[in-house]
Amino acid sequence: MMPSDDRVLTVCSASRWFEMPSARVTAVDDVSLQIDVGEIVGLAGPSGSGKTTLLNLVAGWETPDSGTVERNTGPRRGWSSLAIVPQELGLIPELTAVQNIRLVGRLGGGDSRTVGDLFELLDLVGLADRMPDELSVGEQQRVAVARAVLCMPRLLVADEPTAHQDERHADQVMAVLAQAASAGGAVLVATHDDRLLAGVDRVLQLLDGRLVSPDGDA
Ligand SMILES: Nc1ncnc2c1ncn2[C@@H]1O[C@H](COP(=O)(O)OP(=O)(O)OP(=O)(O)O)[C@@H](O)[C@H]1O
Ligand SMILES: [Mg+2]
Repeated sequence: MMPSDDRVLTVCSASRWFEMPSARVTAVDDVSLQIDVGEIVGLAGPSGSGKTTLLNLVAGWETPDSGTVERNTGPRRGWSSLAIVPQELGLIPELTAVQNIRLVGRLGGGDSRTVGDLFELLDLVGLADRMPDELSVGEQQRVAVARAVLCMPRLLVADEPTAHQDERHADQVMAVLAQAASAGGAVLVATHDDRLLAGVDRVLQLLDGRLVSPDGDA
C-alpha cells in the first residue's frame, strides 16, 4: 500500500550506535514510528534513553546505522519543510532575538506567521532587540520555539522545549506547538514534562533506545 499524503514521517527499524573504546553504545535500537499531518506526538523517556539521538535521525542531522527515516514534506523547502527546537537551542549569538527569528523567515521558503503575534503568545514582548546572552535561558528557549514555528513547518521536531519554562510559559509553548500541528504540521516533541505530555495526541515511550508500550512492555 502506498503511504498516504498525510504521512509526514516514517521511521522503519532505525538504529543508531556509537563505537566506544570499551563497547558499542546503542542509542536508538530498532525504532519504528509514523506521524501524520495534524498530529502532535510526545517522545518520553529517562535521560540517556535516546530521545535526542532519535530526533537527530528524524531531522536528518544524523544517519541511521541500520533502518530508514523517510520525511514526506512535499514541495516545501527550508524551515517551512522541517523546523527544529534543539535541546541546546542553537540561537546565533551575534543576532538579536528578532533577527534570529527573521533569518529563518528569509530562509523559510513559504508563508510566515507574524513575529509580533509570536512575541505576544510567548511572552517575549519588549525583548526583540536583546542579544541571546542578554536573555534568560527560558526566554532564549521561547525565541527558539518562535523561530521553529514561524514558517508553519510541515514537520516540527522539538527537544525538551519546556525544559527551562515555568508552568505558565510551558503552557504557552504547548499552545504554540499545538497551533503548529493544527496548521498542517506534524509535531514530534521529546519531553520529561507531564504537563506537555498531557496535551499531545499520543505518547511514545523510549527505554534504553527502544520504544516500549506505556506499561513498559517491549
Ligand atoms: N556521540 C555519542 N557518542 C557516544 N555515545 C553517545 C553519543 N551521543 C549519545 N550517546 C549515548 O546515547 C544514549 C542516548 O543519548 P541521548 O542524548 O539520545 O539521550 P536523551 O534521551 O536525549 O537524554 P536527555 O534526556 O539527558 O537529553 C546515551 O547513553 C548517550 O550517552
Ligand atoms: Mg536529550
